[in-house]
Amino acid sequence: MNRREILKGSTALAAAAAAGIKPASAQAPIVIKLSHVVAIDAPKGKASEKFKELAEKYTNGKAKIEVYPNSSLYKDKEELEALQLGAVQLLAPSTAKFGPLGFTEFDALDLPFIFHDGAAFKKFATSDLSKQMFTKLETKGVKGLAYWDNGFHVMAANRQIRNVKDFQGLKLRIQGSKVLDATTKAWGAIPQVMAFSEVYQALQTGVVDGLENVPSNIWTQKFFEVVKYIAVSHHAHLSYAVVANKKYWEALPADVRPGLEKAMAEASDYFASIAQQENDEALEAIKKTGKVQVYPLTSEERRSWLQAVLPVHKEMENRIGKDVIDALYKIVDFRPDA
Ligand code: LMR
Repeated sequence: MNRREILKGSTALAAAAAAGIKPASAQAPIVIKLSHVVAIDAPKGKASEKFKELAEKYTNGKAKIEVYPNSSLYKDKEELEALQLGAVQLLAPSTAKFGPLGFTEFDALDLPFIFHDGAAFKKFATSDLSKQMFTKLETKGVKGLAYWDNGFHVMAANRQIRNVKDFQGLKLRIQGSKVLDATTKAWGAIPQVMAFSEVYQALQTGVVDGLENVPSNIWTQKFFEVVKYIAVSHHAHLSYAVVANKKYWEALPADVRPGLEKAMAEASDYFASIAQQENDEALEAIKKTGKVQVYPLTSEERRSWLQAVLPVHKEMENRIGKDVIDALYKIVDFRPDA
């Protein structure tokens, strides 16, 4: 999609509002489009619906939230362009999608094995570093509203991967982050950047042999139908940043924005309360289908994955900034042997 096509997807109201123009009639609700790429019943899909419900309630109907799930409006890369152009007002992309826009600090969150548990991610999400990253987004018209923690990645593939040698020649779908590219190569696999909405077919037709993701996405996108093995590796983390078009958000009327902020805070709590459980349940549901062999890694196997990709941390210093990586290490108490 080019710039003109992206803009064509916007309503006149959204485009006008992005330019700071209020609706002519005081009765007309402000329409806010929220676009995302996952299923309605994935944690992000559910939290988006929760935001809609609460936002409409807290603004007494002055705001109407239109949620566009499952890449139905825009795919990954397009949605960020659309947000900057004002064709959509809210998104909740994974932080891995910000690097390609020039926000390379966010790539730090994809460093392999950087978070050893959910508490470590929470420390980041409430740190000054996370705020600085949001401030950086504002330089390109994007306003960060919340970080959402969607848990740890597993590795789904059409072959069993236990030791690093098993990655050799495997075509792995990755998100756009350069860290993921380097990590995949360090394992000896072949990275292929691809939009989330294209993954099922790519797995089905053998364009790729596997992908890393969280169980709730593997379940709700039915990727389990087109892979044979899942290594419960928890080698990386899936974090989201809920973001708005800055100009639009800041121009919202005083009787609307506080209601949206309250709704966002509560939708974020709701997301935090369901994500882990949904991932656990999804993994169980996948096992129950009997279609996929789900296996944990031994600590020795996991260590072999870790050792192969630790050099990526150093390799990425130039791109991410050594200061950012060092700050993150400190915040999350990074212990590569853990
Ligand atoms: C992906 O593109 O792999 C996922 O991050 C999609 C999502 O938003 O969970």
